[in-house]
Amino acid sequence: MRMILVGPPGAGKGTQAGILRDKLEVPHISSGDMLRAAVKAGTPLGKEAEAFMSAGDLVPDSTVIGLICERIRADDCQRGFLLDGFPRTRPQAEALDAALAELDVQVDAVLWIDVPDDILVERVIGRRMDKKTGRIYHMKYSPPPKGLTDRLVQRKDDTREACRFRLEKYHRETRPILPYYRERKLLRRVDGNHSPATVTAAIMTALGLG
Ligand code: AP5
Repeated sequence: MRMILVGPPGAGKGTQAGILRDKLEVPHISSGDMLRAAVKAGTPLGKEAEAFMSAGDLVPDSTVIGLICERIRADDCQRGFLLDGFPRTRPQAEALDAALAELDVQVDAVLWIDVPDDILVERVIGRRMDKKTGRIYHMKYSPPPKGLTDRLVQRKDDTREACRFRLEKYHRETRPILPYYRERKLLRRVDGNHSPATVTAAIMTALGLG
C-alpha cells in the first residue's frame, strides 16, 4: 500500500507513522527526518536546507523532490511506503505522480490528519524526542519515562514563532494540494483532535482495515 500522511505541524503525522509502519509493514519515509539527517551530517543538501528549516520555511521544491523521488525507488519500497510530510506543495504532488508513473504504480490513499490551529502550537512546543530511539514524546500528553531526561532533545523549529510561520505555510502551500487528491477520490479526512490510539483506529477504518 502506498500512503501519504498530510497535516499541519504537530498534527501527529510522525506519531501515527511510527505506529502504522509496524502495523502495515511498510517503510516510513519522513521528508523532515531525512532533511534533519542531512543537516546533522553537514551534506551540501543539509547546508542548503538548514536556514529554511530553522525559520520554519519550506525547503525549495527542487531539493525535496529529488530526495524523496530517489528514496521511493529503493528496494524496500516495492511493497509500498508511508510518506510523511511529502508532498506539501502542488509541484511536489505532481512530481510524485510522475515518479510513481515511471514505476508503473500509484498512490492508494492520502490521509489528512486535521487538527485546529490553537491545539497545534501547544503540541509542537511540548514535543521532545529521544535522540537514541527517535521516539516522540510530549511533556504533557505523552510524557517520557523517568530517567530519560538526558536523552531528550527539542527541535530548533519547535518555537512558538517558527510554529506560527509553519502553520501559515501549511495553510498557504499545503492545504491547496488537498483538492488535487480529493478529485482523484484518494483523500480521507481523519479527525486528529483525539488521543493517538483513537486517531490510529480512525486511520485504519479510513483505509478499510479497521
Ligand atoms: P516536518 O518534520 O515534516 O515537520 P511538520 O510537518 O511541521 O510536522 P511535525 O513533525 O512538526 O509534526 P507531526 O505532524 O509529525 O507531529 P508529531 O507526531 O511529532 O518538517 C520540518 C521542516 O522540514 C519543515 O518546516 C520544512 O522546513 C522541511 N520540510 C519537510 N518536508 C518538506 C517538504 N516536503 N517540502 C519542503 N520542506 C520540507 O506530534 C507533535 C507532538 O504532539 C508530539 O509531542 C506528540 O507526542 C504529540 N501528539 C501527537 N499526537 C497527539 C495526539 N493525538 N494528542 C495529543 N498529543 C499528540
